[in-house]
Amino acid sequence: MTRRAVIRGVGHHLPARVVPNAEFEATLETTDEWIRARTGIERRHFAAEDETTSVLATRAARAALDDAGMTANDLDAILLATSTADLTFPSAATMVQAELGMTRGFAFDVQAVCAGFVFAMAQADALIVSGAAQRVLVIGAETFSRLMDWSDRSTCVLFGDGAGAVVLEAVEGSGTTADRGILAADLNSDGRYRSALYVDGGVSTGTVGHLRMQGREVFRHAVEKLAETAHSALGKAGLSGADVDWIVPHQANLRIIAATAQRMQVPMERVVVTVQDHGNTSAASIPLALSVGKARGQLKPGDLVVTEAIGGGLAWGAVVLRW
Ligand code: UT7
Repeated sequence: MTRRAVIRGVGHHLPARVVPNAEFEATLETTDEWIRARTGIERRHFAAEDETTSVLATRAARAALDDAGMTANDLDAILLATSTADLTFPSAATMVQAELGMTRGFAFDVQAVCAGFVFAMAQADALIVSGAAQRVLVIGAETFSRLMDWSDRSTCVLFGDGAGAVVLEAVEGSGTTADRGILAADLNSDGRYRSALYVDGGVSTGTVGHLRMQGREVFRHAVEKLAETAHSALGKAGLSGADVDWIVPHQANLRIIAATAQRMQVPMERVVVTVQDHGNTSAASIPLALSVGKARGQLKPGDLVVTEAIGGGLAWGAVVLRW
């Protein structure tokens, strides 16, 4: 018998305010056409002033717990993937823990920027497979609107706010690739590329800072590394691109999503795409897409799903799971 981390519930939350591309035309030298053509983004959600990352995360967590038919005290751990925690510390995860009324177990943040949810899923899987935890809530939540330089058209049109969450539970599987749950993960980072995508503030500057990105360089790495890490994760599971029912990619740019699918020889009909509605929500983008993909009826029990993401660090990775 093999312990597997199986998804029992999924949920998401998006702030009410929707900002269409056209809104940027009033303040920036940009157009709806440029943003759609270069990124696939049509609109994004921005959080209200009182909607911090932990607030969005808590709402997504409640939705996932409801979907799983569980309460917070059924959980052993909360892992929250974010780069926009409310405060430098404590972790946003402990704030969510308190809001949910969870008085046992442990909670911590995972910081791997846009790859954060993939990293957090791999850590949750390790906790479950080792026997350290039975049920783990994994959240991706971000308020990247708080990091934008609104005069920089090359970044501020790309990002949005939101949160998604999944509840993982230990299940005894057969040890074959027919098992439901997480089958393999592949994680990577290379700090030599840290200046390609970073925030120019933090504890060392005494400011929150603004997101800075060399878009073309990140694009180049993304196209090369995402298909590579997805193949590697599939290989660890003993599977290949031909076995994939759905790619649920990080939603940064439709051109990156399409190029990665093409390299994996998976048709676009088998890719969950939400970038047009959410923009790039960093660590929230994959759990948002999992939740929306399930609601659309795209993800069905037994489907083989590959999630892949890259972001600041650079950090990148993939998780293969059976839904
Ligand atoms: O989630 C973390 C990972 N991040 C990513 O995956 C993002 C990766 N990068 C990208 O998605 C793309 O590189 C961008 C969408 C950021 C940019 O697209 P691009 O096709 O790489 O454009 P570019 O940076 O090469 O810029 C092309 C032109 C430039 O003008 P010149 O130098 O050719 O005159 C830019 O100044 O487009 C200009 N430009 C804009 N024009 C209108 C940049 N931003 C805008 C804009 N509106 N908002």
